[in-house]
Amino acid sequence: PLQFAVFGHPIAHSLSPQIHQAFARQFGITLEYRAIDAAPDAFAGAVKHFFNEDHARGANVTLPHKSAAFALADERTQAATRAGTANVLTRLADGRLSAHNTDGHALVRDLTERHDLDLRGHDALLLGAGGASRAVAWSLFEAGVQTLTIVNRSPEAADTLADAIGEPARVHTRYWEDLANIGSFDLIVNATSAGTLGQSLTLPMSLAGSRAACYDLAYGKSAFAFLAWARAAGARYAYDGLGMLVEQAADAFELWHGQRPGTEPVYQSLRAQGS
Ligand code: ATR
Repeated sequence: PLQFAVFGHPIAHSLSPQIHQAFARQFGITLEYRAIDAAPDAFAGAVKHFFNEDHARGANVTLPHKSAAFALADERTQAATRAGTANVLTRLADGRLSAHNTDGHALVRDLTERHDLDLRGHDALLLGAGGASRAVAWSLFEAGVQTLTIVNRSPEAADTLADAIGEPARVHTRYWEDLANIGSFDLIVNATSAGTLGQSLTLPMSLAGSRAACYDLAYGKSAFAFLAWARAAGARYAYDGLGMLVEQAADAFELWHGQRPGTEPVYQSLRAQGS
């Protein structure tokens, strides 16, 4: 069978093997999908080793390797280039590796299709300006949010991202220290790694407007604190990133197999298992 993998560190609890196998069953496709743990200094070698196998076709990449995956590829899609990170590596027919980033597309798909949000007319706040934030900022903008305010603990990274998008009428930055004074938003996306690092984020309640949807790109324990803040702040909706995880897997699956799997049954079964 064709071979696929997800690279991360840690990776033992990754849901990606289960998600890809569930997609494959929808089409009667047999594939092998492994979780490969690679420490940062072993990542490039592990990727090379994996793609040296004849049947290796593609790999997903998760923390902390998304920048390294982007760097080692032979060619990069526009979405990957904008983010400077990649969550998908695909072996091309000539053996070269192509890097792609589907996180932004996956977030927008989860927000608009699973959660039924119409992003047009939303004033959005994006917390963070690292790799995850860069991957989703462009997609939120292109999905038609009315304004996108980017706030990062270190302001330079937020300014760099806003400048790269280059739409000053709709995309701008504010200081983290000013969060208490910048009013409320309809959509608040937590793209910081604070939850994943086990650090707390102190956010003022005033950020969440009465119809606000709050979304954490992470899921499970990493999203708990932000979602608890969202509920306490009176947000109408508080979502974790499990739907985004399933959608980004579907994007990769479609790229590799040419068919778009149904994501809802897989999402529901992960929820039923307690994810
Ligand atoms: P990722 O790939 O998850 O985006 P990253 O590129 O290292 O990881 O970016 C981490 C982001 O989370 C950054 O925006 C970082 O802010 P700084 O640029 O100021 O470092 C943000 N972040 C991490 N821990 C945070 C915390 N405790 N409070 C606020 N922001 C935090």
